[in-house]
Amino acid sequence: MSKYKYFEFIEKHTAALGIGIAIMVSLGGLAEITPLFMQANATRPAGVEPYDALRLAGKDIYVREGCYLCHSQMIRSLRAEVERYGPYSMAHESYYDRPMQWGSKRTGPDLARIGGKYSDAWQIQHLLDPRSVVPQSNMPRYPWLAEAKVDGVDIQARMKVLRSLGDPYSDEDIESAPAKLEGVTEMDAIVAYLQGLGTHRELPDASAREEP
Ligand code: HEC
Repeated sequence: MSKYKYFEFIEKHTAALGIGIAIMVSLGGLAEITPLFMQANATRPAGVEPYDALRLAGKDIYVREGCYLCHSQMIRSLRAEVERYGPYSMAHESYYDRPMQWGSKRTGPDLARIGGKYSDAWQIQHLLDPRSVVPQSNMPRYPWLAEAKVDGVDIQARMKVLRSLGDPYSDEDIESAPAKLEGVTEMDAIVAYLQGLGTHRELPDASAREEP
């Protein structure tokens, strides 16, 4: 069969054409996706650590309570965002977030740089009763966080899974998790998580940044 007969066959048989298209689209897709998988590690900067047991527990509570439904964790590189929230988010800052908490819904403010903005006492009071510190707030109250205890064995199991996915936890990190979380409340954990947000890297001095 000459080359042209071969083309003719494909053009006259829809199924063959369909299979041919599927093969070519898959190859094209692989060519685009494979380099991104290879580069994924390139966003892991030196010095960014996975969440310690306490903050990992806090992150899980944040997800469980659906805080992401009202709060994003992604400062876009727009002047209004940077002036309100601080330096824009970088890919590596959410390197250890599974799933990432970027979000797109902002009923409340972005929390990507909330760490250190308020004291622990403010955060606790705000979670217990938001309107006691911000009278016009419509954020729900989360009083049960102060009562519930973190399950250290559960967090230990999660750390093991995260290690199998590539997070560099040491044996010591994993073994010591239940002891470190002994008696810790969910409030302690979520406040530790919030206080760590946006502290993953040395933030450049905002005034020294180049104009976009
Ligand atoms: C129904 C929407 C809603 C949900 C759900 C929600 N928040 Fe909020 N949050 C807000 C609003 C609105 C504000 C701004 C008013 C205020 O400070 O209370 C806010 C403010 C905040 C602030 C202060 C931000 C700043 O820069 O001043 C923090 C911290 C915060 N929320 C944490 C949380 C956490 C943690 C959760 C989950 C346990 C949560 N929020 C769930 C609506 C929400």
